[in-house]
Amino acid sequence: MSYLRKNIADMTGYVPGFQPTDEFSWVKLNTNENPYPPSPQVIKAIQDATGEDLRKYPDAPSRAGREAAAELYGYPVEWVIMANGSDELLNNLIRACAGEGEEIAYLHPSYSYYSTLAEIQGAKVKTFSLKESGEIEGFPERYTGKLFFLTNPNAPLGLRWGIEEVAALADRCAGLLVVDEAYADFSEGNCLELVRQKSNVVVTRTLSTSYSLAGMRLGLAIARPEIIAALDKIRDHYNLDRLAQTAVAAALIDQDYLQSCVERICATREWFSAELVKLGYKVIPSSANYLFAAPADRNGKRIYDALFERKILVRYFSDPVLSHGLRISIGTREEMEKTLQALSEIG
Ligand SMILES: Cc1ncc(COP(=O)(O)O)c(C=O)c1O
Repeated sequence: MSYLRKNIADMTGYVPGFQPTDEFSWVKLNTNENPYPPSPQVIKAIQDATGEDLRKYPDAPSRAGREAAAELYGYPVEWVIMANGSDELLNNLIRACAGEGEEIAYLHPSYSYYSTLAEIQGAKVKTFSLKESGEIEGFPERYTGKLFFLTNPNAPLGLRWGIEEVAALADRCAGLLVVDEAYADFSEGNCLELVRQKSNVVVTRTLSTSYSLAGMRLGLAIARPEIIAALDKIRDHYNLDRLAQTAVAAALIDQDYLQSCVERICATREWFSAELVKLGYKVIPSSANYLFAAPADRNGKRIYDALFERKILVRYFSDPVLSHGLRISIGTREEMEKTLQALSEIG
């Protein structure tokens, strides 16, 4: 007899991108990390917070971070919640809205962790196919599932939908439309305004990529106060530790630093994309800090293995709709030059 719930015993679990232990000997372009350090103000704030105060619990409602986010995004503080990575919010949204046997949906390909989180909850999962053109196949006039997750910009393809298209999708959802904007800071627009306009829209953000804080585990959501209140009941009451709370407030305030990092990464992305095309790759125009590129022979694994041998790590997905290409995170200009050199040698 197993002590475990059947769905937990049966599930495979999510496999995150490989984090090598000797990470500094790699060009690491596989998990969409930011190649630049966090803002100096964030480092200083964390250093100042590593004192004897650590013996005390953190502020349970994470007020400083929520206030900074509310100010930045132009929402009342009751519309904002902080989390230990945006993954925590995705998890708690499913826990809040989809009971056992109820359905959630997302696009395939996109962030497959939604599926893992739904399996834990015992919820059913439906996927709608996404074409490389951005067309969504088979989305019904009225989707009656409890939640629909739209990764915008899409991961791993990098393409994005404009606010009108997302508003139209929201109107077709009977349940919540969660717009996962993990990469929106690298894009021309976002859907934050929809939270005000549509009662069923939630926007989630992460500080992992654009703010270079993947190691601190920080995310946030903007939603109607009744949804935030529900998420607040579910979360671990001290979900953000003292250092993370200090970091998030300092990071959100330093918008100049954010903008300078984002501009550099987007410029490198556009240059790298054009160079890949010259090498014969098919590249999907990207609104994120990575791009999806396929070699002419559509053999992503061949390129992945050859880059791996040269200690360059990118993301290969064995999923048949993605195996023809690779997701390559945008690193520094030097890292991308090294990658291009390797790709031209590999041929
Ligand atoms: C689409 C998407 N959403 C959410 C996350 C999770 O971000 P966080 O680091 O804030 O948990 C990721 C990270 O890979 C992601 O790709």
